[in-house]
Amino acid sequence: MLRTDDGQTVKLTDYRPTDYILHGVEMTIRLFEGAAEIDAALTLERRTETAAGAPLTLDGDELVLTGLSLDGAPLEPGAYEASPERLTVLSPPPEGRFRLGVSTRVVPEENSQLMGLYRSNGIWCTQCEAEGFRRITYFLDRPDVLAPYKVRIEADKAKAPVLLSNGNPVEAGELADGRHFAVWDDPFNKPSYLFAIVAGDLDAMHEPFQTMSGRKVTLGIYTEKGRVAQAAYAMDALKRSMRWDERRFGREYDLDVFNVVAIADFNMGAMENKGLNVFNHKYVLLDSDIATDSDYAGVETVIAHEYFHNWTGNRITCRDWFQLCLKEGLTVYRDQEFSADEREATVQRIGSVRRLKGHQFPEDQGPLQHPVRPDEYREINNFYTATVYDKGAELVRMIATILGRDGFRKGMDLYFERHDGEAATIEQFVACFEDATGADLTQFALWYVQAGTPTLSVSETYDAANDRLTVTLQQSLKPGAAGTGTAPMHIPVRFGLVGSNGQDKEAATTSAAVEGDVIHLREANTRIVFEGLGERPYLSVLRDFSAPVQLEHAQSESDRLALARLDPNLFNRWRILNDLVGQSLTIASRSPADSATPPLAADIVDAILASVADVSLDPAFRAQVLALPGEAEIARMVAENVDPDAVHAVVEAARVAIGRRGMRLFEDLHKETDPAADFSPDAASAGRRALANAALGYLVAAKDDPAPAEAQYASARNMTDRLSALALLVHHFPGTAPADAALADFYARFENDELVLDKWFALQATIPDPASLDTVLHLTRHPKFTLRNPNRVRALIGTFAAANQVAFHRADGAGYRFVAERLVEIDRINPQIAARIATTFRAWRSFEPARRENARKALQQLIESQGLSKDLKDIVDRSLR
Ligand code: TRP
Ligand code: ZN
Repeated sequence: MLRTDDGQTVKLTDYRPTDYILHGVEMTIRLFEGAAEIDAALTLERRTETAAGAPLTLDGDELVLTGLSLDGAPLEPGAYEASPERLTVLSPPPEGRFRLGVSTRVVPEENSQLMGLYRSNGIWCTQCEAEGFRRITYFLDRPDVLAPYKVRIEADKAKAPVLLSNGNPVEAGELADGRHFAVWDDPFNKPSYLFAIVAGDLDAMHEPFQTMSGRKVTLGIYTEKGRVAQAAYAMDALKRSMRWDERRFGREYDLDVFNVVAIADFNMGAMENKGLNVFNHKYVLLDSDIATDSDYAGVETVIAHEYFHNWTGNRITCRDWFQLCLKEGLTVYRDQEFSADEREATVQRIGSVRRLKGHQFPEDQGPLQHPVRPDEYREINNFYTATVYDKGAELVRMIATILGRDGFRKGMDLYFERHDGEAATIEQFVACFEDATGADLTQFALWYVQAGTPTLSVSETYDAANDRLTVTLQQSLKPGAAGTGTAPMHIPVRFGLVGSNGQDKEAATTSAAVEGDVIHLREANTRIVFEGLGERPYLSVLRDFSAPVQLEHAQSESDRLALARLDPNLFNRWRILNDLVGQSLTIASRSPADSATPPLAADIVDAILASVADVSLDPAFRAQVLALPGEAEIARMVAENVDPDAVHAVVEAARVAIGRRGMRLFEDLHKETDPAADFSPDAASAGRRALANAALGYLVAAKDDPAPAEAQYASARNMTDRLSALALLVHHFPGTAPADAALADFYARFENDELVLDKWFALQATIPDPASLDTVLHLTRHPKFTLRNPNRVRALIGTFAAANQVAFHRADGAGYRFVAERLVEIDRINPQIAARIATTFRAWRSFEPARRENARKALQQLIESQGLSKDLKDIVDRSLR
């Protein structure tokens, strides 16, 4: 049975330590076809603060108890109470350590939630974060209970020649009946959510690695049979990540082995289990025939992210799940910094900001709003959000901006020194930066507890007679769904005063809020005066997006266009162009009546084209300039009575306008792709492909002609070029012969590659036409479609709901009804996936009345369905509130 809603809310203020201390765990896991037997021995001791004789309560989830003993003697029936959710030992020994033996039996084959012990393509694997360990054995399943683990796995040798767990391998051998065993010992104290085993017939790649102190480590990547060659890039990324963490943070690896396993059925991207990272195979397996440049970037990022968790998450973990951003926000910040160093910093930052605005801003401005550190939850799985991860990373980035690179490093060093081996809190993390540098971060810490996106309003006036620039900054935070505070926060605003020569001026100011190139805004309002400028400068604010705010800068269009050309901060050149486009398209989407006037003024189009033509700029940067804000982002900015058809029409018109005006440039840029060139996944090569493919997109839009895309599809020698061409054909000429032919060819080439098939499904789920709902419905009956594989469900249903503004938000409500019906089906199989996809309804109140009513009805019907999981019910409840 699923965990259905029990109406319970967990609150941060209710935290208290466990009554019993766990000193160690020994487990034996015997794997058979159709069942697994788990014997766990827990060494426990009453905490001195606990009253003698207090009961010991362990968590379970769908468990069957098959044995229970205390110090070797079976427990009498009256001495305990057991249910699938709980095991209570009524009066454990009051003094000294005791050993509790707990036996359970589970059926991995029937575990479709993919939490706990399950099977994926025959491979036994586990997923324990956040509360999956309790689906394997009864346990104190919370992150502040740390212990060393010793794990013995037994299985049939033919079915599972590979037996892996956390830590170091210490023993292996043969058993009767063709079975064998392996014993793994993890000396590092860890919480149960980092436990893992994997058993199966896997191929492996091994490489040696020597850490900075000379420790020798064997790195291993395991894949399904015949695919290990596709793990070469992941292995390379792993080694680069390990080196980077040594150089940048002085952190080295701590076990003799580090293993990564690629699994086909997986709820998220990957999992940082100690010494045994388990990955969605999407983030391990690739080569240029099956993966795009963004897939390569994704593998690099996720490999780094999970590896970095070894220190930020594993060596120092979270006291409770409210502190999730302690490990996730920090680790995202670390993987972003890694990618910035390995690739191109400005382009990486643009990507992170796009993601933040595309995912986190809508979450922060809608019914699912919550602070970076939530203070209550009904289902913790629903808090692995853009706010915890991406805004959490922004908060760490702000600390680094406030303290500077050296101060930040000192704080991190202190954090590692002070809390190694502990389960920590956000307060302890912030205190390390204060103690290491003497800074006062009290006001800054409000960012962790106040939900919502603050608005930062900026204006300036220049007094020519006195050569004086006065800058006014104002912050405000609207109360939102989370009901948290709205006090002024410490906002670091990186800035520059740009001269007509394109250089930053050194200006004098007496304001204490200015420190180098950062204005520390702490009040609701501040006024800063700069003198000695020599001419009226252009004010470049919020450089590198130094704070996650909604910027309202009252700046003339001519100043903005000048900065788009001159700003030495390249990020801001992009940001200013992107804002000009976003604001124009937002205005045009609000009044579709005058669709005769082009949505983008000619001088904005020219500014874009000038940047794109500037060969001194990185091609990847120029490609970013060409990527328009997405339709969902425009819809968010329209904010009320949104008509997604109007938004789509406006964005298309803008593409055509840019394409027509830049035709010659785009023809030249597209020719610069060299289809004969050997593929290299490096950032520079990827940037050139991105620019050429962006150019192709505008050519196709301007000419309304599929021919150039058809030609590229036919000659493509890598997935990036092939998929770009296919997307143009399928999205702009759906149902035509060239589109259908290319789709059929693509299917024929890749029908046996699950990862590429996901692209085929996702492409058709995003055809921007109300009729594409029928296509999606049809595809749910395709022989390759299954509700059991999360990647496939996400590719078709998730992508449809998240990225097809026109068809999901169809005026007649058919898109909403379709998704709501699928959610009920998915929920019975995998509640986490259902809940995640359900978040796509979150903006429903911002739509025009007919859609709003249709969405409300679909949500209402959903919530009235019988037996919804806790996960899905929580999301739908909060969305309707
Ligand atoms: N901790 C993982 C990460 O960020 C993500 C994660 C949380 C996860 N819960 C999960 C992964 C459940 C898979 C399944 O790296
Ligand atoms: Zn993580």
